[in-house]
Amino acid sequence: MAVSAIPTTALKSGRSIPTFGLGTWRMGESAARRDEEVAALRHGLARGITLIDTAEMYGDGEAERIVADAVGKKRDEVFIVSKVLPGNASQRGTVKACEASLKRLKTDRIDLYLLHWRGSVPLDETIAAFTKLEEDGKIVDWGVSNFDISDMGELWKTPDGDCAVTNQVLYNLERRGIEFDLVPWCRKRHIPIMAYSPIEQGRILTHTVLREVAKRHDATPAQVALAWLTHQVGVITIPKAGSKAHVAEDLAALELKLTKDDLTTLDRAFPPPRSAQPLDML
Ligand SMILES: NC(=O)c1ccc[n+]([C@@H]2O[C@H](COP(=O)([O-])OP(=O)(O)OC[C@H]3O[C@@H](n4cnc5c(N)ncnc54)[C@H](OP(=O)(O)O)[C@@H]3O)[C@@H](O)[C@H]2O)c1
Repeated sequence: MAVSAIPTTALKSGRSIPTFGLGTWRMGESAARRDEEVAALRHGLARGITLIDTAEMYGDGEAERIVADAVGKKRDEVFIVSKVLPGNASQRGTVKACEASLKRLKTDRIDLYLLHWRGSVPLDETIAAFTKLEEDGKIVDWGVSNFDISDMGELWKTPDGDCAVTNQVLYNLERRGIEFDLVPWCRKRHIPIMAYSPIEQGRILTHTVLREVAKRHDATPAQVALAWLTHQVGVITIPKAGSKAHVAEDLAALELKLTKDDLTTLDRAFPPPRSAQPLDML
């Protein structure tokens, strides 16, 4: 699959973001797996994947170094997402954390910088830091992660809070609670959702119905779970794949077209929410 074949979605800022990328949580935790992890990301880049999601938290900074090693000279072709921990999200702390991430990532800018989850620092402090980092060219866009609908409401009432371009949340067939309110709220404001843990960290893959739908297409359960997300407008998904084989399998999900019948079968097995539910987190 060529790079032009990975669809993009618009960000409010006017830029666009690929709707499919690679996650890096759990990378950088084992020296023995490091080479394979770099190779997996490189394989993704070679196959046309241009979005990588990381965070200062992952591998205690080592995942960002792995991203830097994988990206190398391709920096201008890649859309890098990273995140500041809530404990670092004061005005000064955010700037410091971002500068440390830039160093580990061996780059001069982060394309999209997220508040990893909400902590005790008032939102206006973090937003002030994001705005300054944007003015200084150290980040291009910013957003949030693990924000429930009430958090988004609060964010929107905070000065410049409505400049956030995304909310990265847990979303997969088994975690559909956000469809009741958060997804429509974001859609109305042109905020794409970044779906993390799209295959529920592998736990969903043995589900009988997922296997049954996969069989209809000569596909795998992981591809069905990913295709269910990629067919949705305004949803970006970022599976983590630590081997070349998994990268290739996950990327091929973009070629899988689920039918109306498939979607009905999946809805029956994984019903959409009928009432508001608190946001799921991992
Ligand atoms: N903002 C947040 O709070 C937050 C929270 C969680 C995750 N995230 C982001 O979202 C990314 C994805 O979520 P995740 O890592 O939690 O879970 P995930 O992508 O749902 O699952 C990753 C797991 O699935 C395995 N896998 C991948 N492709 C596979 C395939 N085709 N067949 C079988 N197993 C496969 C991987 O194994 P291998 O490693 O062996 O390939 C890994 O163990 C993270 O890496 C991170 O970047 C963000």
